[in-house]
Amino acid sequence: MTIQWFPGHMAKARREITEKLKLIDVVFELVDARIPLASRNPMIDEITAGKPRLLLLNKADMADPEATKQWVHYFENKGLPVLVLNAKTGQGINKIEAKAKELVKEKFDKMKAKGIVKPRAVRALILGIPNVGKSTLINRLAGKNIAVTGDKPGVTKKQQWIKVGTSLELLDTPGILWPKFEDQEIGLKLAVTGAIKETLLDFTEVVLYALGYLKVHYSERLCERYNLADIPEEPLALFDEIGRKRGCLMSGGYIDYEKAAEIILRDLRAEKLGRLSYELPLQ
Ligand code: G4P
Repeated sequence: MTIQWFPGHMAKARREITEKLKLIDVVFELVDARIPLASRNPMIDEITAGKPRLLLLNKADMADPEATKQWVHYFENKGLPVLVLNAKTGQGINKIEAKAKELVKEKFDKMKAKGIVKPRAVRALILGIPNVGKSTLINRLAGKNIAVTGDKPGVTKKQQWIKVGTSLELLDTPGILWPKFEDQEIGLKLAVTGAIKETLLDFTEVVLYALGYLKVHYSERLCERYNLADIPEEPLALFDEIGRKRGCLMSGGYIDYEKAAEIILRDLRAEKLGRLSYELPLQ
């Protein structure tokens, strides 16, 4: 789903999340493991200030496992607890409850000591930009298919709590935040991974960007998939070469870039080049 974010929508989304934050103890921030920085909201620290946060690297089944390992270290070194997930199959989600309890332990112990509240479940909210897998995760945690109707800014309904295990309750509507789209590279990363579907970005530009990245980080896989002897220096020359190999030619022998881009993008999304990550932590 693509949401067009305007300043009014952003302000409204933020207001709605601020309201939801009053109800919960811990935030589950969901990002795409292949682009853990590009798939974050630029104001997440400010918006969730004061609430313990658990970062969930979702779609890890599609990400490069080595890169994911590096990201886990990166975030843990910054003091942010992390879990690696595949919300589609549920892999990794059984660790969420224990992690959430750990994060609120101090607060709950204090409340207990002061006799403020009776023991109760930890309350959590899933937050993230569109398409990172919030609804899929909520359904997985709920153990059934529930209609996640709040998945649009401005759509409101009565909040329900979903019981997860014995000591966790999850709000059934996620908080939806906007990506940092003023940065063009972030837009390109979101488009390559499919987070922006009907992209306003030029299709061929997205592929050209991806090829430039893959050439540096996954050259062997490119050679293997497209039967290349070596990789041309310039991403455009690489694009040409793959287009030629795939028979994407127009009359006069010119490369049909749109057709070539479509093939490459389809290959990338179908994991024909294996599990790829499009970001690595700065060394
Ligand atoms: P959102 O609420 O954050 O907007 O995201 P949503 O759950 O709708 O998920 C967006 C897409 O990502 C869906 O695919 C969903 O199946 C897929 N997805 C979510 N989590 C994972 C994961 O861990 N691994 C993989 N591989 N995919 C995941 P879709 O193409 O829109 O729908 P469908 O093909 O599943 O029907």
